Amino acid sequence: MNITVSAITADFTAEIYDVDLTQRVPDDDFAAIANAFWKYSVLIFPDQDITQQQQLAFAERFGLIERERTLDPKATPSRFDGAFSDISNLTADGKIWAADSRQRMYKAGNKLWHTDSSFKYLPALTSLLHARTTVPIGGHTEFADQRGAYDALTDKQKKEFDGLIVEHWIATSRRRSGFHDFNEDEKKRLPPVPQMLVRTIPQNQRKSLYVASHAGRIFGMPDDEGRALIDHLLDHVTQRQFVYTHRWRANELVMWDNRCTMHRGTDYDDLRYVRDMRRVTVSDIANTCDQADVARPAALQAA
Ligand code: OGA
Ligand code: MN
Repeated sequence: MNITVSAITADFTAEIYDVDLTQRVPDDDFAAIANAFWKYSVLIFPDQDITQQQQLAFAERFGLIERERTLDPKATPSRFDGAFSDISNLTADGKIWAADSRQRMYKAGNKLWHTDSSFKYLPALTSLLHARTTVPIGGHTEFADQRGAYDALTDKQKKEFDGLIVEHWIATSRRRSGFHDFNEDEKKRLPPVPQMLVRTIPQNQRKSLYVASHAGRIFGMPDDEGRALIDHLLDHVTQRQFVYTHRWRANELVMWDNRCTMHRGTDYDDLRYVRDMRRVTVSDIANTCDQADVARPAALQAA
């Protein structure tokens, strides 16, 4: 085993050295990386001058790649299709986006605390984000540890939250960030989905909260009460002691566990500087209700 794991805290976020992602990672090194990932939930790989093919090849070793687009490519063309999400501020032809572009309005939602694809019936396991070009001021990515936040709940809260099911919907987070104009195709493809409020991570048996700005209602609770509880939990999870702020350097790859973290992008002057970031996301194995073997709420049986 050749890799070096340099932890940021005892169990959240680590840097990985002595690995070359331009090459196929040997199986024992890959196993060590995977073990570090289950333990730390966020891994940083500095100095990885990789191609998109190499990024994808590494991601594929964690599972099936998410390929369906959230936005209709006809309404919002992108530099990439298939496996890659464009997390940059560039249009399909590589120019900085316009102030009033649909792409920019939609991506503003990434500045809210969220976890990728919790609004999809089959949510995400991990996202791997590679920075090609970074900006001189701002444009950080912050990560919050939902396992640590779960551990810090009172026993009474842990009991109350056990088995609760939450509605996640892309329209909920976008309403909050001021994006309202999903077209008919997007509305049809992105209905609300159920997810467990508390989940267990199979690889380490740790329990985790699973909230995000995509979360709107809690089933079996009046809407305003559910909303208030979700807002309270978003505040709880994102307290300073659970948060790591990543300040990007070019050619870094960062991967995070979408099952038990949240993240958000911080502001930068996106009409002035190019921030070129490319993401590949790996799907989880099943919806969180199915993983917990809990029946989906009747209101969403048809979803
Ligand atoms: C993402 C994301 C935030 C950022 O890549 O999924 O939300 O820092 N990124 O751009
Ligand atoms: Mn994201």
